[in-house]
Amino acid sequence: MSIEQTLTDDEKLAELSLEQLQQLVGLVEHDPSRDPFPVSGWDALVWVVGNATQAAHFFQSAYGMQLVAYSGPETGNRDHHAYVLTSGAARFVVTGAYDPASPLADHHRRHGDGIADIALSVPDVDVCIAHARAAGATVLTEPHDLTDEHGTVRLAAIATYGDTRHTLVDRSRYSGPYLPGFVARTSSFVPRPGAPKRLFQAIDHVVGNVELGAMDRWVAFYHRVMGFTDMAEFVGEDIATDYSALMSKVVSNGNHRVKFPLNEPAVGKKKSQIDEYLEYYGGPGAQHVALATNDIIGTVDALRAEGVVFLATPDSYYSDPALRARIGEVRVPIEELQQRGILVDRDEDGYLLQIFTKPLGDRPTVFFELIERHGSLGFGIGNFKALFQAIEREQELRGNF
Ligand SMILES: [Fe+2]
Repeated sequence: MSIEQTLTDDEKLAELSLEQLQQLVGLVEHDPSRDPFPVSGWDALVWVVGNATQAAHFFQSAYGMQLVAYSGPETGNRDHHAYVLTSGAARFVVTGAYDPASPLADHHRRHGDGIADIALSVPDVDVCIAHARAAGATVLTEPHDLTDEHGTVRLAAIATYGDTRHTLVDRSRYSGPYLPGFVARTSSFVPRPGAPKRLFQAIDHVVGNVELGAMDRWVAFYHRVMGFTDMAEFVGEDIATDYSALMSKVVSNGNHRVKFPLNEPAVGKKKSQIDEYLEYYGGPGAQHVALATNDIIGTVDALRAEGVVFLATPDSYYSDPALRARIGEVRVPIEELQQRGILVDRDEDGYLLQIFTKPLGDRPTVFFELIERHGSLGFGIGNFKALFQAIEREQELRGNF
């Protein structure tokens, strides 16, 4: 199999190489002919927001994304606005109702801003749906073609946790900017002089929060319905302090482009952050999207300059001798990381640098992670406990613990 054949069309368009993707998202070789539900990669993250027109501006101005396609009243869409934005191989579709009777308005009232559809690129929609149906999945939309002058896209959708869905997309016979019904649209936003070409290259993982006791059921769903396999398991002590706790397991598709950590709250002395999400999102949903970058320092500086707010990391995180011993040598001085609040984790395969934003919208729900991988295929497990405890030590110093 040549390198060309293992890159998706979106990755080729973004001029990414196989080597870059191996480093960026931990891509591995995989033989789709032996996979019951072959998944090539991400197609798009489809957001439902309260104001798509402004959210699209935010993703361009703050996150450096490019507007590539649009659907709205001017194109015959009488229900909502939809803006398609890309950064490298990553594609977001931001939708917002303008008809008060739109189902999107109801979705937004229940959930606030969030990700309604984690759409996946598949080589054969019908094979996937047949397997999913036989495995007991709920088929929300049967396989069907959408056609315009740019060709034909074949689509179907299955239900996953909460009101979240996976649309399965085969766009191999389509050359339009997104889907039939959309027109090409370029950005009116003018980047600042000297702004980097892009701030992230790909989606690394999307985390789902599910109810207490439901995590194993959803892990089994991804095994049985979609042929995903386990990547890592974090349970109990790993990511619990005395006061806050969660459990997490990670499943991924064959080539590791698509990685789904699944969290459920664990019993602690105080309310788990997962419980807070479930309360405000109105049930299970996508908690965070990890965006892969090859220069987390430059990305964080650019995002901060545009007003993006990150979770603060206390200085005690960096001065902890146990942490310093654990992380060893990384590509930048630890002071550079400390200035920006970037976290480090290391495992037997290498290390990763990561940082988390505050929630994007009005509700304390979905947020972003920026991640720069150097061999590690992990998710920052070492940081969960260290970070929670560091925060608690800070609280104690202030007399609030
Ligand atoms: Fe993450």
